Amino acid sequence: MKKILIVTQNNEEAIIINNFLQKNKYSSYILLDVSELINRVKSEKFDLLIIDLDLIKEYELNLVKFFKEEFTDLKIIVMVRDKIDEAIEIADKNNFYYIQSPINLNELQFILNKIFEKLEKQKIYNLEYFENKFIGKSEKIIKIKNLIKKIAKNDSNILITGETGTGKELVARAIYELSNRSSAAFITVNCAAIPENLLESELFGYKKGAFTGATADKKGLIELADDGTLFLDEIGDLSLNLQAKLLRVIEYKELRSLGEEKLKKVNVRIIAATNQDLKQLIKEKKFREDLFFRLNVIQINIPPLRERKDDIPLLIRFFIEKYNIINKKNIIGIDQKTRCILMHYDYPGNIRELENIIQHAVIFSEDEMIKVEDLPQNIQNLSLFEKLEEHREDTEEDKKTIEDKELNLAEIEKKIILKAFARYGNNHTKVARILGISRSTLWRKIKEYNLQIENE
Ligand SMILES: Nc1ncnc2c1ncn2[C@@H]1O[C@H](COP(=O)(O)OP(=O)(O)OP(=O)(O)O)[C@@H](O)[C@H]1O
Ligand SMILES: [Mg+2]
Repeated sequence: MKKILIVTQNNEEAIIINNFLQKNKYSSYILLDVSELINRVKSEKFDLLIIDLDLIKEYELNLVKFFKEEFTDLKIIVMVRDKIDEAIEIADKNNFYYIQSPINLNELQFILNKIFEKLEKQKIYNLEYFENKFIGKSEKIIKIKNLIKKIAKNDSNILITGETGTGKELVARAIYELSNRSSAAFITVNCAAIPENLLESELFGYKKGAFTGATADKKGLIELADDGTLFLDEIGDLSLNLQAKLLRVIEYKELRSLGEEKLKKVNVRIIAATNQDLKQLIKEKKFREDLFFRLNVIQINIPPLRERKDDIPLLIRFFIEKYNIINKKNIIGIDQKTRCILMHYDYPGNIRELENIIQHAVIFSEDEMIKVEDLPQNIQNLSLFEKLEEHREDTEEDKKTIEDKELNLAEIEKKIILKAFARYGNNHTKVARILGISRSTLWRKIKEYNLQIENE
């Protein structure tokens, strides 16, 4: 648990902050008497100090110098009442965070996330972490991984396209984590989930009194992402009005909050994602072409899972391990029949759907191997459906195609090979012996027919 000391002579505000911190699972303490501060910090290990700037100023630079030299790990947020420009300068120079008083708790939460996430991140996120969390060895995924590594540090805007559940958000986060902006914020906005008028004030912020209900100034998400990365999910759903405003942010690097006269400078990298065809939306005049070109400096298209089935076994393994840990289970794999179903299914919900299937199976499995009965009912039904298909009443036309298929030698070979694997697991030697062919012929046929069979 992170330990925080609040230092202020404003008792009321100290209590509000303290309650908020404790509710959010921080262990926090109040210190009203600043002369105690140095002793307190020396005798207990705090992770963060939230301190009134006026108190620091009273002690002049001695205090600053002391903290900087003696407690390099201690993070500091200074609370500022007035003379905000001067405060920003002091904060920037000394590597402090600052917050305006009276404190807006949302803003405090935001800064806390920034500080503590950053600490965690320094420990965990690096290239190796990326390789371990971003699963896939198919040619298409390797290309995407290399592209991510190449472009992360370059500051251009990026457009990620792909069907639902293909990993667009995962890719956006990886780019951010590997970029030079990783110590600043990563802010996600789902443009489809928020009604337009609300989205505008969320993105751009507002000044007190800009509309009824605007009782205090509020920073917009774009401003909160300053120096960091803004992830605009479902960008195809952004209204034309907001598209124009966003374009302004990109072109001139400035924004105007609602009810505000002045323009503010911002420096954000934008990563946008969509599962819609933006070119089509442009034709329909629902998406601005100029904005498209500004966002599409680099495009990453994530292919659907059914086009990279080689990744399925790796993903299954990854998700089994993940859900083993979460559910305290010890599952070692899946049986051949289940694997066969999972390899042949076409995953309209892509990786998210595969993950849900494995999560379900891990929870329901009572064995060390996952079986067909452990799969969600709709996937089980699917294998049943395939069986029913075999016995259904066929039309004359169907019958002919089926008969033609049955006359096709390759089709027959395929069926027999699959049948042998279904019976003997992935024991290639045994399957080859039963079929009366060599292992290398078997291997060649698997390749030739593109059969989804796991290596031994
Ligand atoms: N290559 C991958 N390796 C491991 N996990 C992945 C991979 N791709 C996606 N996932 C996981 O699949 C889930 C869906 O991914 P994500 O939310 O990034 O998809 P999305 O494209 O943003 O979907 P949507 O369009 O529905 O928002 C997440 O739990 C993510 O961690
Ligand atoms: Mg998403």
